[in-house]
Amino acid sequence: MKGIILAGGSGTRLYPTTLVTSKQLLPVFDKPMIYYPLSVLMLAGIRNILIITTEKDVPEFQKLLGDGKHFGINLSYKIQKQPNGLAEAFIIGEDFIGKDCVTLILGDNIFFGPRFSGTLKYRSKQVEKEGGACIFSYPVKQPERFGIVEFDKDGRVVSIEEKPEKPKSKYAVTGLYMYDNSVINYAKNLTPSARGELEITDINNIYLKNNLLRMERLGRGFSWLDTGTHESLLQAGQYVQTIEENQGIKMACLEEVAFRMKFLSKSKILSNIKNVKNNEYYDYVRSLVG
Ligand code: DAU
Repeated sequence: MKGIILAGGSGTRLYPTTLVTSKQLLPVFDKPMIYYPLSVLMLAGIRNILIITTEKDVPEFQKLLGDGKHFGINLSYKIQKQPNGLAEAFIIGEDFIGKDCVTLILGDNIFFGPRFSGTLKYRSKQVEKEGGACIFSYPVKQPERFGIVEFDKDGRVVSIEEKPEKPKSKYAVTGLYMYDNSVINYAKNLTPSARGELEITDINNIYLKNNLLRMERLGRGFSWLDTGTHESLLQAGQYVQTIEENQGIKMACLEEVAFRMKFLSKSKILSNIKNVKNNEYYDYVRSLVG
């Protein structure tokens, strides 16, 4: 399984905050936003990851994350010239994906909840073994803002509609998608929607029509956080702060994930961070692995 983080877009809704930097590099409490989706891919056991962003922002992401060796992963980078839609990630990432399956995560999506790591590994293995796709849904208050799933009375998926005026449920499709290799061809054959984008919802509907779409419902007790507006960005930061201070843990601490996933040894992690002193984040890492 390969991983792609889509971290492009113009970020205009967050201007002037995003005038000179990418939205996905803004802090969500104590770390850059992209740490959160990156931790999700790592928890799924994925070590080969492509970051797709704008031409202007690539150098910043590279400065922050480099080739990924610090986290026991391999990172590469590609440019999306225009925000032509989420499904373009599979066209831009074609060579990177090669013959493998792929998990796409949006660079501004934050997932946090019990047993999520197990769910990710299970679903990723399932797609690798049996083919098809798996998407993740979550109940939301404003369904007209998202891709929305319609279920029949037995809980099976009947349709997925992108930003429907009259939503058929309150279950949104989150920004995390697992696909077999056919996704590349499906993406190449899409036509842009009325809003001019290659829609991920159209890809999901192809898998649905072929009876190959699985759906994992993330329910009560799980958190899927939006960071698309100043308010939701601040709320996400406050949420992370509350959880971290209550539980004495860190969410999406990449060194911790690398350690727990056995991507890096204790001594390697300690040597990577040996020069950073008087810093709460790295003291946390030391306390865990030291
Ligand atoms: O967040 C989940 C939702 O994401 C799904 O429920 C929808 O089905 C899906 O279409 C998408 O909704 P939006 O169209 O509202 O996503 P948005 O345009 O806000 O883009 C999501 C992120 O991806 C955003 O941080 C910018 C980035 N992006 C977006 C596009 C269209 C890119 O990097 N490249 C793009 O071409």
